[in-house]
Amino acid sequence: MKSCHAFQNTLGYGAMRVLITGGSGFIGSHYAERLLARGDEVLSIDNFATGRRDNLREHENLLMVEGSIASFELMQSLFRYFKPEVVVHTAASYKDPDAWVNDVEVNVKGTAIACQMAKEAGTKRFVYFQTALCYGVKPLENPITLDHPILPEGSSYAISKTAAEQYIRLSGLDYVSFRLANAYGPRNLSGPLPTFYKRLIQRQECFISDSRRDFIFIDDLVDCALKAADGAGHGVYHISTGGDMAIIELYDATLKALRINDAKKPDIRARNPDDAPSILLDPSRTEQEFGWKARTGLAEGVAKAVEYYQKFGIDQTYTHLSAQHDKKVA
Ligand SMILES: NC(=O)c1ccc[n+]([C@@H]2O[C@H](COP(=O)([O-])OP(=O)(O)OC[C@H]3O[C@@H](n4cnc5c(N)ncnc54)[C@H](O)[C@@H]3O)[C@@H](O)[C@H]2O)c1
Repeated sequence: MKSCHAFQNTLGYGAMRVLITGGSGFIGSHYAERLLARGDEVLSIDNFATGRRDNLREHENLLMVEGSIASFELMQSLFRYFKPEVVVHTAASYKDPDAWVNDVEVNVKGTAIACQMAKEAGTKRFVYFQTALCYGVKPLENPITLDHPILPEGSSYAISKTAAEQYIRLSGLDYVSFRLANAYGPRNLSGPLPTFYKRLIQRQECFISDSRRDFIFIDDLVDCALKAADGAGHGVYHISTGGDMAIIELYDATLKALRINDAKKPDIRARNPDDAPSILLDPSRTEQEFGWKARTGLAEGVAKAVEYYQKFGIDQTYTHLSAQHDKKVA
């Protein structure tokens, strides 16, 4: 990697060395590309459990390492070599709801290792992405505020991601944890959008839950999260448009982007009794402290995601939901 021109950020140094865990994933690859575009140096560690090799392309300021964040020796050597000023921690295990041990290994142990190595390396900023499932599947308020009790019950993914957030707090590192509901956009392989796309192009019927969810477009998310790498904020934040949307609206936008007007009528299914009618995160603290607001409309965001799916295809989609639950929502 060669050094690059200075970029002024509020942490007070020029071009930054940023270690991204899960840099070949959906959020990690977009984040990495934005850092590289402005001249920062990036080291990504990814084991491709859910990330795609074509998500992140070669770049003179990018070092890609294949391996697991749960490997203490590998992480120690990477942190000692690269001495990241910023860590952007996106790697997570979630694709098998019954793989508790792997969730603990990656989400809890991997995060604990990342925190300890970041402390040792003198990392100035630690950026984390937490799931809104930390508030439980049936949150007690709508919109959900940052004061909502933490209740990650019912999901190994949520329990392990929440333990990880606690370790980050415990570490004493200067951190920002962004709690998210559903991000979508190019390279997104989880949630309803890629499933709708796959079924619609095969002319299959879609199943839609009569619920409302909080969807954030990837570029808006990264606009906000990049500010954290540059020193904005401290602690926990929501990234959200501030508005929820019916799943059927996402389905209709997918049809429109695909220019399909003769699709089979979707099967609208009653919500599972365990499902919240709406999940909506209150972004007011983020908007105030980050001077940020989501700006991409649904039609534009879905069209960009569909354009990606058409160009690169979808081999696989992932979900943290159990198969039984998943059948009801997609
Ligand atoms: N996408 C969303 O809607 C959403 C919502 C809430 C929270 N999050 C959180 O955001 C983060 C990124 O999510 P995403 O949607 O980009 O998922 P993703 O699956 O696209 O990215 C995760 C990346 O981590 C990699 N990875 C998994 N296990 C690893 C390991 N042991 N070592 C190294 N790399 C490993 C995967 O291969 C993948 O590239 C995750 O921590 C997730 O919990 C995402």
